[in-house]
Amino acid sequence: MLIVGDEYANSHGDNSRISRSAEGDGTSGRSARSLSGERLDGMNDVLVGRALAKRFGQTVALGGVDLAVRAGEAVAIMGPSGSGKSTLLHCLAGIMKPDSGEVHLLGQRIDNLRERDRSALRRTRFGFVFQFGQLLPELPAEENVALPLMLGDVPRERAVRQARDWFGPLGLHGMETRRPGELSGGQAQRVAIARALVSKPAVVFADEPTGALDQTTGQETMRLLVEATKHNGACLIVVTHDPNVAGWCDRTVEVRDGHLLAGGVRA
Ligand SMILES: Nc1ncnc2c1ncn2[C@@H]1O[C@H](COP(=O)(O)OP(=O)(O)OP(=O)(O)O)[C@@H](O)[C@H]1O
Ligand SMILES: [Mg+2]
Repeated sequence: MLIVGDEYANSHGDNSRISRSAEGDGTSGRSARSLSGERLDGMNDVLVGRALAKRFGQTVALGGVDLAVRAGEAVAIMGPSGSGKSTLLHCLAGIMKPDSGEVHLLGQRIDNLRERDRSALRRTRFGFVFQFGQLLPELPAEENVALPLMLGDVPRERAVRQARDWFGPLGLHGMETRRPGELSGGQAQRVAIARALVSKPAVVFADEPTGALDQTTGQETMRLLVEATKHNGACLIVVTHDPNVAGWCDRTVEVRDGHLLAGGVRA
């Protein structure tokens, strides 16, 4: 049985810009900043990556990245192909262990947990939306959404009932019993958004969530992803090549050759 986030874990062994920000800039004397300008000891930080480094053979995928995501914040990660965006997301989400550095979720260190515990964490505290292939083709949409609950031992009937509550708000009314192959690309991504949120995660990770969609459908999908995530009190980390997608987020950080560009200070 595939576990949300685990199917992925198994298969992947110009300056940061500020747009909107709900709160101040954290420039109080107590606030430490990394070289790239990330504030690392904020009281409201939900997820913090410190000095994250990862190599694949000779390739330096991450060269020491600091990133802090605050409660309710949506952050876009942009950068050229091969710059380390997915590696950063995988390290932050506990899909991949960094070679060095630390990841903290709500003050608790998570990068050094055993695989079993990181897997449980991914299932309960994190939600995932990817570009392709994240829904199980043999299951109706409502069971795809219910899956994270069922894997957490919620009885099937109750899990499916809870899952159904997501269909209306995400514009999926009437799609509950369709199989993924009977949905459009945008509808399938909305089912994936419901699945990412159904267990009320602290953080939703999305890697190119609109990469397979046309511009209009992609924009609508992003709107729903940001709105639904914020409505549920989770933070959102979105990897994207598309500035229009990043524009839905509170701020954007840019990755180049495994480093965050300087200037990632919040507004
Ligand atoms: N499993 C792996 N084995 C070897 N090299 C890898 C592996 N995963 C990533 N890399 C390398 O690490 C670097 C960063 O890869 P990563 O997938 O993080 O880039 P990315 O910014 O997400 O790119 P894209 O926009 O194309 O998805 C690249 O040079 C890539 O070739
Ligand atoms: Mg990538």
